[in-house]
Amino acid sequence: MCGIFAYLNYRVPRTRKEIFTTLVKGLQRLEYRGYDSAGVAVDCAGKDDKGSISLFKKKGKVKALDEELYKNDSLDLDLELDTHFGIAHTRWATHGEPSAVNSHPQRSDKNNEFVVIHNGIITNYKELKKYLVSKGYEFESETDTEVIPKLIKYLYDNRESDYVSFSTLVERVIQQLEGAFALVFKSIHFPGEAIATRRGSPLLIGVRSQYKLSTEQIPIQYKSGDSRRDIKNKNYINKVDSSNALHSVHDRMAVEFYFASDASAIIEHTNKVMYLEDDDIAAVAEGKLSVHRMSRSAGEDPVRVIQTLQMELQQIMKGNFKAFMQKEIFEQPESVFNTMRGRICFETNRVVLGGLKDHLKEIKRCRRLIIIGCGTSFHAGVATRQILEELTELPVMVELASDFLDRTTPVYRDDVCFFISQSGETADTLMALRYCKERGALTVGVTNTVGSSISRDTDCGVHINAGPEIGVASTKAYTSQFVSMVMFGLMMSEDRLSLQKRRQEIINSLLKLPEMIKEVLALDQKIKSIADELYQQRSLLVMGRGYHYATCLEGALKIKEITYMHSEGILAGELKHGPLALIDHHMPVIMVIMRDSCYTKCNNALQQVTARQGRPIILCCQDDPEISKMAYKTIELPHTVDCLQGILCVIPLQLMSFHLAVLRGYDVDCPRNLAKSVTVE
Ligand code: M6R
Repeated sequence: MCGIFAYLNYRVPRTRKEIFTTLVKGLQRLEYRGYDSAGVAVDCAGKDDKGSISLFKKKGKVKALDEELYKNDSLDLDLELDTHFGIAHTRWATHGEPSAVNSHPQRSDKNNEFVVIHNGIITNYKELKKYLVSKGYEFESETDTEVIPKLIKYLYDNRESDYVSFSTLVERVIQQLEGAFALVFKSIHFPGEAIATRRGSPLLIGVRSQYKLSTEQIPIQYKSGDSRRDIKNKNYINKVDSSNALHSVHDRMAVEFYFASDASAIIEHTNKVMYLEDDDIAAVAEGKLSVHRMSRSAGEDPVRVIQTLQMELQQIMKGNFKAFMQKEIFEQPESVFNTMRGRICFETNRVVLGGLKDHLKEIKRCRRLIIIGCGTSFHAGVATRQILEELTELPVMVELASDFLDRTTPVYRDDVCFFISQSGETADTLMALRYCKERGALTVGVTNTVGSSISRDTDCGVHINAGPEIGVASTKAYTSQFVSMVMFGLMMSEDRLSLQKRRQEIINSLLKLPEMIKEVLALDQKIKSIADELYQQRSLLVMGRGYHYATCLEGALKIKEITYMHSEGILAGELKHGPLALIDHHMPVIMVIMRDSCYTKCNNALQQVTARQGRPIILCCQDDPEISKMAYKTIELPHTVDCLQGILCVIPLQLMSFHLAVLRGYDVDCPRNLAKSVTVE
């Protein structure tokens, strides 16, 4: 998905080359999110003449943009700029094909008076465009974004007096926008100034200065009496005055500001960051950062705090692995352990999820649990539904966020709704969260991203603590989501006498889980050799049932998203109702047959497959007396309690998809057409 990065140096002299390097590096840190074009905007004038902006935009990789920057000999790369603001963007096409003209920054006019980078979607762009076209503004791209720089220029051209502040103009712009956005603005009329704002799309600001910032709080300036107005009513321009909205936190000291849609682009420069909230307008002028917003809602925090991020750069680097995905698969013994760390006491069998403990009584009284997510996060819900039903003794629904909204599913005040999301920013999941909140349900976030929209907007929640996940294909987040949901079940059943034996069995197995994951990872070479035989196939079916329906769905998703092979996760119980028609001597099938309550039924499915000359590859338990006698390829896994076996079974499928993608010559971390964080519907 699109990525925002911008850099402002105030009284910190930087050559133009250093500024380019910082901007390009910022974009490279965001590459994992998925994109198809990139661009930057910088000042192009000499030291004293601050009046013009250059745009560089390129379809394809950030590397191509980087080369383009240095091809341009009209800019003096060695020129030192005491104060400068540069903006950069990676675009993932939504409105209009990937191309230089459609990429960001988008501009107001041929003189680049205002330039903007945008993540999200403007849903009312057609109406705005029509209006602006009627006022004589010419559009050059197919994007929804282009209305934004055009609109701010329109407001600037029609300002009520000579002076209007940059933040006031931006505020007037966002009053007219519908949809989701994170925006950063730059303008020749406000040299050295930056404005950033968001609604429904994440945005944070990193600050690096010589002064201590750790406890700094930024007061918010609230304004009243200015509601959304029709753009056609030009009088509204006189009604807002934000010229005195700036609250100084840095008194003209040397300072650098980094703006980004995610922390991974900022962390190498500073760990002091401020997350913007919806409708915040952050302005940097004369090296001072201020935040203001229209009006204060009940219970709203009147300050924004600069917080210290704990994330280390090396945590997000690839190390010796070929791809982030591979690194993340191999991190699972530690990531799963980190999910449990400090939450399970193996001596007393107590499980405490700090973010949920105050809501436990309310959860226990609820009518049902609804688990909502997309893609892999949805599969984590499917994988844990059965054990949650058993441990909570509540009905559990698992829902794809988009479908849940399409159906306008009935939700009640006594429902508890879980929102599982690695990024915490997935638009469909976020909309489902808002939908459930409006209906009064208790909302619980299960995310991997501190400060994400879902973690902030839910009533309570669990951080899965898997560490940053960079590969688009989600791996370690799935196993940590899985463990988090099981821990929730254990916490809910602590006082149920009849469930103590079962709890004990699960807790014992959780203790051993990291070591067992290591045993599974040791099968990597065997899995690679199977991939060597499969990688030229067009299709690959993955079949199982019970606890492993989720394993099959998740394995097939991994295979299709990074190998581009057709792959389907099939519930073995449905075999006779259609999928059996696909089976013949040529169709590769992976079957998951573990020693659990579905063992016999899975063996029946195996018979049905082999009777049609199918040649299955079987994921089974080590030393399975039946299967080891058969003449089929097997991947033998350590045996754990039934409800956790899915964690051990999904890892060979993660590894298989990784090897297949490498053998087929694809970019494992950035699969075509996909993005890490899907912030559009
Ligand atoms: O960040 P989220 O967990 O909300 O993302 C949901 C899906 O987009 C995500 O899991 C997607 O399916 C993965 N790329 C699959 O590997």
